[in-house]
Amino acid sequence: MDAISPFPICFLILLLSLPPPARADLPGTWELLIPNAGIASMHTAVTRFNTVILLDRTNIGPSRKLLPKNNCRLYKNHAVSKLDCYAHSILFDPKTNQLRPLKILTDTWCSSGQFLPNGTLLQTGGDLDGFKKLRKFNPCDVNGSCDWEELNDVELSEGRWYATNQILPDGSIIIIGGRGSNTVEFYPKRKNDVVFSFPFLSETEDTQMDNLYPYVHLLPNGKLFVFANTKSVMYDFVENRVVRVYPELNGGPRNYPSAGSSVMLALEGEFSDAVVVVCGGAEYGAFIERSVDTPAHGSCGRIMATGSDPVWEMEDMPFERIMGDMVMLPNGDVLIINGAMKGTQGFELASNPCLNPVLYRPSEPIGLRFMVLNPGTVPRLYHSTANLLPDGRVLLAGSNPHVLYRFDVEFPTELRIEAFSPEYLGLDKANIRPEILEISETVSYGMSFDVVVSVPLPVVGIIEVNLGSAPFATHSFSQGQRLVKLVVSSAVPDGDGRWRIGCTAPPSGMVAPPGYYMAFAVNQGVPSVARWVHVS
Ligand SMILES: *[C@@H]1O[C@H](CO)[C@@H](O)[C@H](O)[C@H]1NC(C)=O
Ligand SMILES: *[C@@H]1O[C@H](CO)[C@@H](O)[C@H](O)[C@H]1NC(C)=O
Repeated sequence: MDAISPFPICFLILLLSLPPPARADLPGTWELLIPNAGIASMHTAVTRFNTVILLDRTNIGPSRKLLPKNNCRLYKNHAVSKLDCYAHSILFDPKTNQLRPLKILTDTWCSSGQFLPNGTLLQTGGDLDGFKKLRKFNPCDVNGSCDWEELNDVELSEGRWYATNQILPDGSIIIIGGRGSNTVEFYPKRKNDVVFSFPFLSETEDTQMDNLYPYVHLLPNGKLFVFANTKSVMYDFVENRVVRVYPELNGGPRNYPSAGSSVMLALEGEFSDAVVVVCGGAEYGAFIERSVDTPAHGSCGRIMATGSDPVWEMEDMPFERIMGDMVMLPNGDVLIINGAMKGTQGFELASNPCLNPVLYRPSEPIGLRFMVLNPGTVPRLYHSTANLLPDGRVLLAGSNPHVLYRFDVEFPTELRIEAFSPEYLGLDKANIRPEILEISETVSYGMSFDVVVSVPLPVVGIIEVNLGSAPFATHSFSQGQRLVKLVVSSAVPDGDGRWRIGCTAPPSGMVAPPGYYMAFAVNQGVPSVARWVHVS
């Protein structure tokens, strides 16, 4: 009697000798937008002109993009030469794939940022001469002349390197933490320049400094959820007081340099609940030991931050992951993309790129929430970014695990810009994809307004109207990222294939701080192209 038939063995050998299968069977598609952007983006933000600001650090030697002629900058801290004729920031138009070099003067290495209510990006801190700097960028389209503006009449009260910024309900910005700064401060400044001590940041500092780039989410009750290392609190920034201490999250440190990520799930309904998710991270010690091959963690914790007795509900991702970016998609699902499966954050400190994005579907029951998506081909490790575009694609930029630009190594400085299209952009969804025909350009809190859409197939039930913020993405966390699902009435036919949806603007700045949002109409999970709406 044959113990083993020869067929399975041949089959197995055949399988092992084949190249990895092209995973056309997995959802999502990839496209290369720009083979050489000239810079590796460390910080990325989408503007209300549908352009994208990409920003590296300035103290890094030649990039691969020259500034326009006669526009060099003199830079005493330059690692290579004092006359720097290279761009370290660009403005990119993902519709036409055009780009334009921008000129930034002081060092932005590991800085932070947030859009102001009028759509200007406020960008803060960095290293060396940038440590206390504030900068502004009044955006424009790619052919415009907008550029970085360094503020000379005001500076941060403390140097901020690896801090997190969050816009507040009144449109001011809080700037939290940073290396050696366990404090918070505000823009515009409050109470004559004082910084406010925030002992939570000292309590969560360890020898690896796992409290950097804290995860900050503005809860709909107007308090901040702040997560650092393994701990989190509800913080009343008006009174400078911790009002709640959450249980510790198991599974190791999560913030820089241990490289997890976090989102607050879509706010909806009565806007009384907010759920925060924290995913992935490095093994404690990997950073101190400079380990490139310690397996990362794959666990996610999920907590009802506004609940009366909240606990972390744990779930494992299909892959362990560090430096994954969590991107809120227009329909409320979360895309987890970029990063590696081994090592930690920092120069030369990771291996085994995690090329498969994963979709997290919050409304599914535990165990069914993750879906593995079509893998990419470009490793995106330390200093890479992911941002939702107004057309529903996700823009991937950067990756530079080296001190300077290097191209002769296994994970070179990455100058390619790509886009990942989630399954909702597939051709088979074209018949249910809405298009926004009419929407107010500005709405005030609590106001009722109509949105008119067209959809090829007749609409059944609800078309959502969801507002996505434009966050500042850096170091695998998107500062200020939020999605607000408006209260809507069922779409009613409005003639000629048009549908009218009655919407109520967000009730307050606690739910949606003032500013420009991408308004998406979403039909059965499929989003329209967004229109920018100013909420105030
Ligand atoms: C937005 O406001 C800031 C001041 O808070 C100002 O510096 C900036 O120029 C304004 N932007 C625009 C486009 O008006
Ligand atoms: C910018 O200008 C170029 C060349 O004149 C043009 O082809 C392109 O469409 C313009 N882009 C935008 C966004 O206006």
